[in-house]
Amino acid sequence: KIESLLAEIKTLTASNAEEAEALRLKYLSKKGEINALMADFRSVPAEQKKEVGIKINELKQTAMERINALREQCETAETQDEGIDLTRSAYPIDLGTRHPLTIVKNEIIDIFSRMGFILADGPEVEDDLHVFTKMNFAADHPARDMQDTFFVEQNAEDVTKNIVLRSHTSSVQARYMETSQPPIRIISPGRVYRNEAITARAHCFFHQVEGLYIDKDVSFTDLKQVLLSFAREMFGADTKIRLRPSYFPFTEPSAEMDISCHICGGKGCGFCKHTGWVEILGCGMVDPNVLEQCGIDSKVYSGYAFGMGVERITNLKYQVSDLRMFSENDTRFLEEFTSAN
Ligand code: PHE
Repeated sequence: KIESLLAEIKTLTASNAEEAEALRLKYLSKKGEINALMADFRSVPAEQKKEVGIKINELKQTAMERINALREQCETAETQDEGIDLTRSAYPIDLGTRHPLTIVKNEIIDIFSRMGFILADGPEVEDDLHVFTKMNFAADHPARDMQDTFFVEQNAEDVTKNIVLRSHTSSVQARYMETSQPPIRIISPGRVYRNEAITARAHCFFHQVEGLYIDKDVSFTDLKQVLLSFAREMFGADTKIRLRPSYFPFTEPSAEMDISCHICGGKGCGFCKHTGWVEILGCGMVDPNVLEQCGIDSKVYSGYAFGMGVERITNLKYQVSDLRMFSENDTRFLEEFTSAN
């Protein structure tokens, strides 16, 4: 009897936890078969008691091990069916990092904030009035073509009613001047749009930080000094600047500013095309027409303005040669800026 039960137990199977439990009840519970054998133990002749006792104990041990193993098997199988594998180790989750353009934009904001500039912003979908007209672009002025504009709504009779994607954040200057009187000292960071083919050197959108300062007796010297301080803080204390005459409808005189190439220290390298200089921004004295159109008395006040591309500064600072990298969200590129965060 003991032998046949032992053979039976060794071949037990269960396909789920309930079946395993049923087996436990059948063999191992109080009213189970093994306990029933124990009850018969009394009738075993004395000289065989020792041998039979050992065998029953062995049987009980085997039954417990077998049934426990079946139960564990069934439980593991069931959690795996639910798609949860409790045996897998936890994996580390990488933290995100700031985008390089955000890092550099914040740095530009920091530098100008320390010089007393405060932040101003405005809409990306703008009217012609603020992007062009108040910035002294005449209705038929060819300078409107300087910035390849995306039109949202075109008005046949009145171009100033056109709705556009702003092509520079000078529109924020116009909005700020309309509602404030000097002294004005603002910077306006933001995204701007231009209808250009996407290449390594151009994109249909980029980011700008423009600055505006208006007060009594503001001179070109003030502008130059502020820009020199900026260049030195951004690119290093021994950075030199030079201003070249240029043209913008909203400033007169206008200039473009170069910095001595910080990679070769101005000696000339492939990066600055062996000139020792790289262009970083446009600037000038605010045209009196702009002040008048925005409600500021140009006989009392004067001012300067400047505007730079955040992509350009980032390219120079981190030697990124392809603009498209900034909007591809390739984590291999973004991870390179972890230490700059
Ligand atoms: N708005 C000009 C641009 O987008 C930059 C600029 C700003 C130039 C202010 C001069 C003064 O190109």
